[in-house]
Amino acid sequence: MSGKTFYITTAIDYVNGKPHIGHVYEKIASDVIARHFKQRGDDVYFLTGSDEHGIKIQKTAQKNNMTPKEFCDSNVVDFQALAQDLNLDYNKYIRTTDEYHERAVQKIFQKLLEKGDIYKASYTGLYCSGCECFLAQKDLTEDGLCPDHMAKPQEVKEENYFFRLSKYKQQIIDHINANPDFILPSYRKNEILNQLENIQDISVSRPKTSVSWGIEVPGDKDQVIYVWIDALSNYITALGYESEDDSLFKKYWPANCQMIGKDILKFHSIYWIGLLLALGVELPGTIFAHGWITIDEKKMSKSLGNVISHKSILEQYHLDSPDALRYFLMTTTSFGRDGNYSDEDFKSKVNADLANNTGNLLNRSLSMLIKYFDGEIKQEFVNDDAKELVEAALNAKKKVVENFDSYMITEAIEEVISLVNLTNKYVNETAPWSLAKDENTLIDCAKVLYNVAEVMYHVAVLMYPVIPDISQKILSQLGEEKNIADIKLDDLKWGMIQPKKIIDKASLTPVFLRIDSELAGDKKK
Ligand code: MSP
Repeated sequence: MSGKTFYITTAIDYVNGKPHIGHVYEKIASDVIARHFKQRGDDVYFLTGSDEHGIKIQKTAQKNNMTPKEFCDSNVVDFQALAQDLNLDYNKYIRTTDEYHERAVQKIFQKLLEKGDIYKASYTGLYCSGCECFLAQKDLTEDGLCPDHMAKPQEVKEENYFFRLSKYKQQIIDHINANPDFILPSYRKNEILNQLENIQDISVSRPKTSVSWGIEVPGDKDQVIYVWIDALSNYITALGYESEDDSLFKKYWPANCQMIGKDILKFHSIYWIGLLLALGVELPGTIFAHGWITIDEKKMSKSLGNVISHKSILEQYHLDSPDALRYFLMTTTSFGRDGNYSDEDFKSKVNADLANNTGNLLNRSLSMLIKYFDGEIKQEFVNDDAKELVEAALNAKKKVVENFDSYMITEAIEEVISLVNLTNKYVNETAPWSLAKDENTLIDCAKVLYNVAEVMYHVAVLMYPVIPDISQKILSQLGEEKNIADIKLDDLKWGMIQPKKIIDKASLTPVFLRIDSELAGDKKK
């Protein structure tokens, strides 16, 4: 262990619909980061969960003739199933209807009331239930609609509790300016600094006459706590903040990385930070706002009927592991920017990178090892003569680590794919099949195959956070019996392959089968 802790959180999903590829994108990215930091030896805690209060859930439950709690209980199951479906290795799933969370949120509210940072005032505003927030006139379209939901916000005149956000405005601005990694990608920073210019106190409760589904304001039976205050608090209540046992909070907070979508950056880099400052709680290291996934270049929406789930993709292509989808989503765009999913891109990307470049390289080199050397690596094959290749493998590890330092997942993967491409070139140039034809050069053929095996070991370990199943298969075919999750990056160096018989013919199966478009087409019909 490195002795360091690493706490990563995702946004908690509204459970008023089914999980789609957008929810999935963020959870996969966070899982990839969590796995990478475990490889570094950090003590990682990975949190995800669901956001279950508010008017949006209340209304949808009503439409379904269910109580909000019944509705959440039935819908949350699909969100929790993502763990299994996508191989997410998180430590905890928090639901904002969990009792311990509700109690802690009330205590947080009470603390701020006592401090004078929450006060009561009357308010008139325009509320968008899709965003679960008040919008200013200037935020609306010409027709007076919320630009994200194309719906008319409701005019409300209420007596509410307010949080003195304006008191913390300067501290937030100073923090953003002093910490270049606080908002990542850095190109999103200015948008937040601009919004901070006009920041005012925010309403943090709703009267029960408008919304009944929420956590009651302590000491006021007529009001519920605003859903965003409730939801944002999950990041610390999940660790036991304001509970009898806050040992996890003491151990893991502050979060190293809070992963969210770009649409909710304001809530995280302004409201959340204001709350933490008011509570006297340390601030998180990085708020990372990823981009949005579109489908065939169009925003996903129920009205367009183009909402895609991970389930439909996995079924369509008969995939029993989520690795191909994980890989595609992590490479479809530079992580942080908006990305796109299309069937065509998915097929061509995973076929090219996973089946052809990586899978075939392993398969053809191990086939030769079996054919010429009975699948055995002997001591005399071990070498580090191919300097360029050895250096490229070591360099790939260094670059992967550097990229993950700022959560640049896509660039990290590209480093590994470059190593794969270089190795393919190396095999083509050294032509081990020709070297095998002559007794005098047979040893050179063996050395080449050893070198390729060594690179593939590196590839498997470096790619493990993204494609855990495939990586494990690669490692097994290289004769490594260890669980790949247990291999630490510090231990990864040239010379991982132990001289022994590493594979026999029966065990040589492709680690990733090409996605067959015909098959997928049949299934679609
Ligand atoms: N409940 C709030 C978050 C509260 S966090 C304290 C919420 N929920 S959500 O279900 O609407 O979205 C959950 C996450 O999924 C958000 O980070 C959001 O940005 C992300 N995505 C939702 N649709 C998306 C895409 N189409 N593409 C990528 N991510 C998107 O917001």
